[in-house]
Amino acid sequence: MTGQTFQNLTISWIGLALITHIILYFVKAPFGRHTSDHWGISINNKLGWFLMELSSLLIMTYFLVWGTNSKQSYAWTLFVLWITHYMNRTLIYPLRIKPTSKRMPLLIVMSAVFFNLVNAGLNGYFLAELAPLVKYDAQWLSSPHFICGLVLFLSGMAINWVSDNRLIRLRKPGETGYKIPRGFLFEYISSPNLFGEVVEWTGFAIMAWNLPALSFAVWTFANLVPRALNHHQWYKEQFPEYPQSRKAIFPFIL
Ligand SMILES: NC(=O)c1ccc[n+]([C@@H]2O[C@H](COP(=O)([O-])OP(=O)(O)OC[C@H]3O[C@@H](n4cnc5c(N)ncnc54)[C@H](OP(=O)(O)O)[C@@H]3O)[C@@H](O)[C@H]2O)c1
Repeated sequence: MTGQTFQNLTISWIGLALITHIILYFVKAPFGRHTSDHWGISINNKLGWFLMELSSLLIMTYFLVWGTNSKQSYAWTLFVLWITHYMNRTLIYPLRIKPTSKRMPLLIVMSAVFFNLVNAGLNGYFLAELAPLVKYDAQWLSSPHFICGLVLFLSGMAINWVSDNRLIRLRKPGETGYKIPRGFLFEYISSPNLFGEVVEWTGFAIMAWNLPALSFAVWTFANLVPRALNHHQWYKEQFPEYPQSRKAIFPFIL
């Protein structure tokens, strides 16, 4: 694929993220607390998470191990960070979430698999095959944008993991309902886990400074901001005592 074709494809992909973002203000993604049986065949939600995220883990591992340039430059650092995130999301997170009767529509699983195939495909292909070797050289590794991006990425990942863990621990064994989360960033926003994920991939885009990484940051924002607003609205409807000052996803802002 030529660089120009790749660039056109990635820009179209960013365009699709913006369209999806608008649609998600009208259609709630039906999984977790918003699950619904109007979306056809559904599967166990732990299996759903595993299947949804596996392609991203496998594709990036493939490009790291067999890609032409992935180990000739410091691009491998980006692969390692990506794979670390997806090891958690694919293998650890589904094992940790508490079993409930909630199921995940196959349509959601299939659309997430499609997303991950394109997203990891674009990012892995760029880093391993298209990026000039000098882009990710020793100078890049000590550049301010790499360091700032890395700090954001690691902070976002930590916020995402800590918040997911706190939410998962809210249910005692056998419980399936919901409680008002307290402490940590939950005092400021309803979905610190989603906030952490937005920060994480924004940091990745700043570090990598390429178009596919930017597309992932845009997609994460496009998907998670409407989802956080839905979560926030849902909390306020379920719990009359829900803290009024809490925002949805960005502390003091939204
Ligand atoms: N990069 C992306 O585009 C993307 C897209 C989607 C999700 N994600 C990530 O995937 C993870 C899950 O997302 P999500 O929207 O499904 O998160 P979520 O609704 O906050 O749920 C996380 C887990 O905690 C449980 N939980 C949530 N709130 C609870 C409460 N108040 N009381 C008791 N249990 C509660 C949920 O149970 P239930 O499942 O039973 O509700 C689920 O097991 C997040 O880390 C998110 O960042 C990323």
